Amino acid sequence: MNDRVAFITGIAHGQGRATALALAAEGVHIAGLDVAGPIAYPGYGMGTADELRSLEDELAALGVRHALFTGDIRVAGEVRTAVQGAVERLGSIDILFNNAGICAYGLSHELTEEAWDAMIDINLKGTWITGREVIPVMIAQRRGVILNNASIAANRGMARLSHYVASKWGVVGLTKSWAIELAPYGIRVVSIHPTGVNTPMNDGLAAMEGKTPKEVAEASAGNLLPVPWVEPEDVANAVVFLASEKARYVTGSEFILDAGLLTR
Ligand SMILES: NC(=O)c1ccc[n+]([C@@H]2O[C@H](COP(=O)([O-])OP(=O)(O)OC[C@H]3O[C@@H](n4cnc5c(N)ncnc54)[C@H](O)[C@@H]3O)[C@@H](O)[C@H]2O)c1
Repeated sequence: MNDRVAFITGIAHGQGRATALALAAEGVHIAGLDVAGPIAYPGYGMGTADELRSLEDELAALGVRHALFTGDIRVAGEVRTAVQGAVERLGSIDILFNNAGICAYGLSHELTEEAWDAMIDINLKGTWITGREVIPVMIAQRRGVILNNASIAANRGMARLSHYVASKWGVVGLTKSWAIELAPYGIRVVSIHPTGVNTPMNDGLAAMEGKTPKEVAEASAGNLLPVPWVEPEDVANAVVFLASEKARYVTGSEFILDAGLLTR
């Protein structure tokens, strides 16, 4: 994958950062976007400007070029600036990892409209906004891979997560529709469905629930393999494979990375 270019949302920490480093280790130049500051909902911490700076250093040390931007995937103009900047500085976008997302708990009938809207606007609409900016670049190149980070929440219902679950089922619908629209251009589109992942999101949810990160992961997971969660590097490895030529006929499908959870 030497000299390909990836664009990753939610790149400051968690799965986005791990994926940036894994792709960089394969010689992929890295562009990305992160809100890198507090947002109104949910109540746990997002990525930071310091994390973006330290990631730039790590990418440079791996010998790849980078173009990292601050912006919110809900804001089309900010996404457009980042995508245009990435193409200007790095020359193309061959891989899009639509990864930025939030999670929060709440019984469906007790959610505020603000909570519902934030969840859908970030996890679903933001994913679409980012694709809308990147897809024309890929169509012009007649190649590309789009990987949308969904969740096992896109394969089932989950208590106190109805807005999250609804947003992630939406991401699957978007994935399959993009796969149909973009196949004629040789562009593949796949959703990734991890079980709980050991990231700042999980830590943040645990703090809000008054539980340890392990307790919160185990409560919503129930993996078949005896692990509370998978690591961000496991998701990164899946992205490296799915973005590569080894996965050249994988499109429109759901890549399940669930430590066996959905088997039960
Ligand atoms: N952690 C889990 O257990 C888990 C499991 C399955 C799927 N996922 C999904 O994986 C993706 C990544 O999750 P994570 O665990 O790395 O989360 P995280 O909270 O650790 O990191 C998310 C990153 O996205 C950024 N971000 C959030 N909202 C943004 C916005 N509106 N615009 C730009 N950047 C924004 C944050 O600043 C942060 O850097 C999410 O879509 C999440 O739903 C997470």
